[in-house]
Amino acid sequence: MQSSEIRQRFLDFFQGQGHLLVPSSSLIPAGDPTLLLTTAGMVQFKPYFTGEMEPPRRRLTSVQKCFRVTDVESVGDSSHLTLFEMLGNFSIGDYFKHEAIDFAWEFITGNLKLPKERLWTTVFLDDDEALELWARKGVPRERIRRLGEKDNFWGPAGDEGPCGPCSEIHYDNGGPCRLGKPDDQCGPDCSCGRFLEIWNLVFMQFYQDRARKRTPLPRPNIDTGMGLERITRVMQGAASVYDTDIFQPIIARVCELAHKRYGQDGGTDIAIRVVAEHARSAAFLIADGVVPGNAGRGYVLRRLIRRAILFGNKLGLAYDAANADSFLAAVAEVVIQHLGGVYPELAQGRTFIVRVLQQEEAQFARTIETGLPLLEEKLIPLHKEVGRLAMGKQAESPFRIPSTGGSIRIPSSETVSVAGILDALTAPLLEIQTSAEAVEFSKRISGLEAFMLYDTYGFPVEVTAEVAREHGLSVDMEGFNKEMEAQRERARAASGFGGDFERLRVYQELGAGHTAFLGYDTTHATSEVVAIIVNGERANAAGQGQEAEVVLRETPFYAEGGGQAGDGGRLESPRGLFQVEDTQSPVAGLIVHRGKVASGVIAAGDQVAATTPRATTRPPTCCTRRCAPSWAATCASRGRW
Ligand code: ALA
Repeated sequence: MQSSEIRQRFLDFFQGQGHLLVPSSSLIPAGDPTLLLTTAGMVQFKPYFTGEMEPPRRRLTSVQKCFRVTDVESVGDSSHLTLFEMLGNFSIGDYFKHEAIDFAWEFITGNLKLPKERLWTTVFLDDDEALELWARKGVPRERIRRLGEKDNFWGPAGDEGPCGPCSEIHYDNGGPCRLGKPDDQCGPDCSCGRFLEIWNLVFMQFYQDRARKRTPLPRPNIDTGMGLERITRVMQGAASVYDTDIFQPIIARVCELAHKRYGQDGGTDIAIRVVAEHARSAAFLIADGVVPGNAGRGYVLRRLIRRAILFGNKLGLAYDAANADSFLAAVAEVVIQHLGGVYPELAQGRTFIVRVLQQEEAQFARTIETGLPLLEEKLIPLHKEVGRLAMGKQAESPFRIPSTGGSIRIPSSETVSVAGILDALTAPLLEIQTSAEAVEFSKRISGLEAFMLYDTYGFPVEVTAEVAREHGLSVDMEGFNKEMEAQRERARAASGFGGDFERLRVYQELGAGHTAFLGYDTTHATSEVVAIIVNGERANAAGQGQEAEVVLRETPFYAEGGGQAGDGGRLESPRGLFQVEDTQSPVAGLIVHRGKVASGVIAAGDQVAATTPRATTRPPTCCTRRCAPSWAATCASRGRW
C-alpha cells in the first residue's frame, strides 16, 4: 500500500467518525515561545486542550509535519528522521480512553489489516483501565506491558504545556530477541530492534508548568500520533523507513547524482540516507520561512544542510561552482515534486528553496575547501601520529614535545613533521609533558584547536566534531565553548563600549562604498538587497521574527551620524516585510538598515521597495542635519541647535 493511500485512509477513517480535518500547521509554531519547531500534531491544538480557545469541533484529525532536532545524529539508521508526518486524531473534552483505543484498534486491524498477532501494547504503570480495554480487544495479557514515565508519559511539548499518561501500539518484527534475552524479558521497551512503536495514544489530563508542577486540565482529552513513515515501513514490509515509497524516489535521485548504488555498502547507504533525509527536511523548513543562520531555527537548518553536504562529499557530490550547481537543491526538487501536492507551500516556495540551498551550499563549499584538508590531512594525522609514537613509552619521563622547529620530537629521536600546522593551530597547545598526555592528545581535538579552526577558517565546530568522530577522535566541546566565551570577553574589552569586533570585521569585509545614499529629498526607492547580517555574521536571508541588518545597493535611508538619528521605515518585497528601526553607517560608505523581519522572508538578491516616513526631508533647525533630541545639548554647545 502506497504511503499516500495510508495517509488518505487515516483521514477518511477519522472523518467518518465525526472528526474535522485540520490542515497541517507550519513547522514554525504560531505564537508559542516554548517551542523552536513543531514537534507533534497536538502543538497547534494546545490552546484547545488548555481551554484558552474553543475548537471548531471537539473531534479533530490531521496529518502534521513535525521536526525533532534531538535525533539529528541518528539519522541514517533504519528508523530515525528529523522530519516526519504525524497522523493524529484528537478529542477536545469529547471521547476518552475507551473510544481512542477502539478507533486505533479498528483502524490498524480492520482498515489496514495488520496481523493482530504482531501487535503489542503498553500502558502507564497503574493504568488498569487502559490495560483492560486492550485485553477486551483480544490482545493477550502477556503482550500488554506496563511501563513507567520514561516510556508511557508524554509531554509537554516545550518547557510547559498539556501532557498525560499514554498507551502505545508496537509492531513485532519477530523474535527471538536480538540481544539474546529470554522471550518474557524482551518486549516493546527492549532496545534490540525487534519492536517498532507505531502509534502513541496520549490521555491528555494535566498541564505541566515550568517548575514541572502538574495540574488537571479543564477536561480530559485525547491526543494521538502515528508516524506515517513508520506505519508505511510496516505496511510495505520494508527493512527501514528509507526503503519505502516515501524515500525511494529521493534516494534514487541521490544515487543518480553520485553514480552510486543503494544497498551495496553499509557506509555508502548511510551517506545516501543522510543526504536524502536532510534535503527533505531542509526543503520543508525553508518552505515555512526558516533560513540558515547562527541561532535558533536558522541554526538547526544550517546544521542540517552542512551535515548533508559533508555526507554528500563522501559520495563524491560537491558544489559545482562553475555552473552554480547545488546537489542538495537537485535532491530537494524531487521532494518538492513528490510532496508538493500534499504540502502546497513546497511547490509555491520552489524557487526560494532552491536559491537558499544553492547559496548555502556555495558558501559552505568555500569554508570546506580550506578547513577540511587542514583538519583531515594535517591535524587529525598529527594527533594520531603523536599517539602512535607515545605508545609503549610510558616509562620514559618526562615526555617532551618541543613546540618549535616545525616538528614534534618524541623521545628517542622520532619526529613528526608538523610544518604548517603548528603555527596555525597547535603551537600553543603543545605542552605535552608525559606519554599519558600524548595518548590523551591522540584521542581528542582540544577546544583551542577547534576554536582556531572556527576563528581562522570559519570551520563550524559541529563539523569538526563530525569529521573527528569519523576518525575515532572527539572534540573538547567544553574547551571550545570556553574559548568562544573568552573571545567574546576580549572583543567586549577591546571595543571599550560593548561593541563587537566580529561585527566590525563583517562590515569591513562588505567594504566601503557599498551603498549609495540617495539624498535628503528622497524617501522612497526601489533597490536590491546586497547583503544580510544576522547576529554579526553574513547570512543569505532572514525569516519572520528575526533581527537582522540589511544592506541595499542604494538607499533613501539616512544613517545616524554627526548627532543625527538614523532613519526608520520599511523594506518591502513580494515575499516579506522588513521593519527598519534604525540606520547606521558602521564603516564609511556602507549603510546598514537595522530591524526585524515583520513577515515572510527577506533574502539577498531580493528587490525591495524602501520607504522611510521621514517627516521632513530638510534639516529643521539651525544645523544642517536633523538632530536626534538626545543630541540637542551637544549641538547647542557647538552653537548649532
Ligand atoms: N503527541 C504524541 C506524540 O507525539 C501523540 O507522540
